[in-house]
Amino acid sequence: MSVFPKDFLWGAATASYQVEGGHDADGKGLSNWDLFSHLPGTTYQGTNGDVAVDHYHRFREDVALMAELGMQTYRFSISWPRLLPQGRGEVNEAGIRFYSELIDELLKHNIKPMITLYHWDLPQALQEQFGGWESREIVDAFDEYARLCYQRFGDRVELWSTFNETIVFIGMGYITGAHPPRLTDPKKGIQACHHVFLANARAVKSFREMRIDGQIGFVNVLQPNDPISDSPQDRRACEIAEGIFTHWLYDPVLKGEYPAELLAMAQQAFGVPYFAPGDEELLKQNIVDFIGLNYYKREMVAHNDDVDGYAINTSGQKGSGRELGFKGLFKQVRNPNGVYTDWDWEVYPQGLTDAIGRIVKRYGNIPIYITENGLGAKDPIVDGEVRDQPRIDYLRDHIQAIGAAIEQGADVRGYYPWSFIDLLSWLNGYQKQYGFVYVDHNDNLARKKKQSFGWYQRVIATNGEQL
Ligand code: BG6
Repeated sequence: MSVFPKDFLWGAATASYQVEGGHDADGKGLSNWDLFSHLPGTTYQGTNGDVAVDHYHRFREDVALMAELGMQTYRFSISWPRLLPQGRGEVNEAGIRFYSELIDELLKHNIKPMITLYHWDLPQALQEQFGGWESREIVDAFDEYARLCYQRFGDRVELWSTFNETIVFIGMGYITGAHPPRLTDPKKGIQACHHVFLANARAVKSFREMRIDGQIGFVNVLQPNDPISDSPQDRRACEIAEGIFTHWLYDPVLKGEYPAELLAMAQQAFGVPYFAPGDEELLKQNIVDFIGLNYYKREMVAHNDDVDGYAINTSGQKGSGRELGFKGLFKQVRNPNGVYTDWDWEVYPQGLTDAIGRIVKRYGNIPIYITENGLGAKDPIVDGEVRDQPRIDYLRDHIQAIGAAIEQGADVRGYYPWSFIDLLSWLNGYQKQYGFVYVDHNDNLARKKKQSFGWYQRVIATNGEQL
């Protein structure tokens, strides 16, 4: 018998900028990524999402493929500037129509939509007006946008999440400088992150005030950190890494407060986050209904008094990156016994069971959705077929890891592999493929089912029994 509950939801995920294209179609406003990806040297070989895989124009064909795959749920994000070209104020009805038709098409095929409100494409107008996430004004703007989405789609959509991977868009936007707005200013970053938590809390509050019949969550990277040795220094470094990558992002939305020791460290070092009157109550009173976990890899961590900065492997040439280090705090190091992808991400399914266990231990038995999980690879084409056996192996092992967590008592309710279709990887172009569906960039973006498509079809049909 399957370890997955009868009502477990099998799905897949994407995000607006990575699939839609139609970057200036039908009144859409400019996003920060529309601008950033056109600046020289920002993305792999200058790739951008202007056309992406043209899901904006081909969504019916894509939903038909989702239905054929047997998907019971689909996680996608809304492009804020497609609905509100200036970030606030005037609504672009054509944008509303697109998402409305997409939702109807999904429902027609019994596919439950899960909407992500923010998967990194900020209206550029708000970046220019007040610095985007840097300013407290973003909290009102985000609330206006969230309310618009609830009002127009809330009658048909039950599963919502506010933010995708705050550690990434804030960390890379404000600390490493690899995402827009390209800053390397931890003080601004920590305060911007605080504004994200406030915006989340306000959007959760509005969701409840508007009595939307559904659940609202927050999606975080789930990246377990393990010490490279048992030495007290390495274990301490690991504790700090786990605090920054996990507790800093999870505590404010699940407990309504920051982890105390780290908060004191940040305020002493940078004087932030600054709390305005009412912030504490807002966070405390609006914790989310569920947590979305995006799991790809774990990190091994060591004590660090030499390495500062990092370089990302964006080419898929093994070993071309350099590990991340914050001098005096910790560094990420390679596991000598680890198995790594071509982008140097450790493949470690056991980490998913372990990390879910850590979440349950710290936050209680809260509802969990695995909102992303997948293998980025250059899939070979053999005799006209896309053979992605390594992806099948990766997903199988991780589904088993989720099964193990469920057997240990975790309340995992759904699984969204990344990604439904091959799409744009933000910094890695189109050659880092994740999908069940291949897109031929040399043949008018024609869709083609991969080997993994048939495999996942069976997994869904047997509720995870046949892996
Ligand atoms: C997550 C994001 O970080 O991982 C996705 O939510 C992203 O948008 C995915 O594409 C895989 O990362 P990458 O860098 O391989 O595209």
